[in-house]
Amino acid sequence: MHTPDPSQPSSLELAGSTALITGAGQRIGAACAQALALAGVKVAVHAHHSLAAAQALCHTIQQQGGVAEPFLADLADPRQTTHLLEQVDSQLGTVRILVNNAAIFKPGAFGTTSLEAWQEMLAINLTAPFLLMQAFARALGPVTAGVIVNLLDQRIIRPRPGHLAYTVAKSALWSLTRMAALELAPTIRVNAIAPGPILPAVGMEGEAHFQRIAAATPLGRPGSPQDIVDTLLFLVRHAFITGEMVYVDGGEHL
Ligand SMILES: NC(=O)c1ccc[n+]([C@@H]2O[C@H](COP(=O)([O-])OP(=O)(O)OC[C@H]3O[C@@H](n4cnc5c(N)ncnc54)[C@H](OP(=O)(O)O)[C@@H]3O)[C@@H](O)[C@H]2O)c1
Repeated sequence: MHTPDPSQPSSLELAGSTALITGAGQRIGAACAQALALAGVKVAVHAHHSLAAAQALCHTIQQQGGVAEPFLADLADPRQTTHLLEQVDSQLGTVRILVNNAAIFKPGAFGTTSLEAWQEMLAINLTAPFLLMQAFARALGPVTAGVIVNLLDQRIIRPRPGHLAYTVAKSALWSLTRMAALELAPTIRVNAIAPGPILPAVGMEGEAHFQRIAAATPLGRPGSPQDIVDTLLFLVRHAFITGEMVYVDGGEHL
């Protein structure tokens, strides 16, 4: 069990801290919110379309004795994005843990990606995390410890054709992760998780396609949201890691 060292500016006591997890109504984000709540963290469960699911998750966490509130925002809208952080700060206490999980995953090859699709992808998968990180750092100021974890994708190191704007946005988010780790040290640590096949994409390539991709990884199987959760908790707790990315992909990036 990690014991925070108050002499270290990057050390953070989890219990009683506030976390904002974007896109946490369902799937990987919901698993992250649930796990942080079990660790005693007050969780802001952000959702856009999955508000009912976010409310149900908060209800479950509250019944388990935790603190959780749902927050609604369209992260394609910069004003709603910045307002989201302010809302959480005022309702649940200053956010000390920011998990940029929300994303869209839409196909588009180099020759067919429209300007509109490109801008939507960058707005949600890159600009929103940037605005949240900036608002987060501003609210914490120069002395308060905080942690940011950005969800990337192993494709950034091993790109496959067909998801151009998505891969570019996630690659830029990795650059942003490292830049922010440098600029926000020593009080705020900034790390990333690069998943491989964890859950099949919603409403797109089918389950069979997902299983084929998972079977082709070195470990030959899909991962689970718990694999992401374990890595998140590790990165949040580990006071001496910043600017790092952990592949949670069964070796797919190899
Ligand atoms: N699943 C995988 O195997 C896998 C693989 C590689 C990388 N990843 C990365 O890991 C993270 C989680 O993956 P996932 O599959 O659980 O994600 P997901 O289900 O595809 O998306 C997570 C959430 O993002 C939110 N979102 C999308 N557009 C939004 C918008 N305009 N405003 C606000 N929220 C918006 C959605 O919230 P609402 O439902 O409330 O609208 C959605 O539930 C993502 O960053 C993803 O890129 C996942």
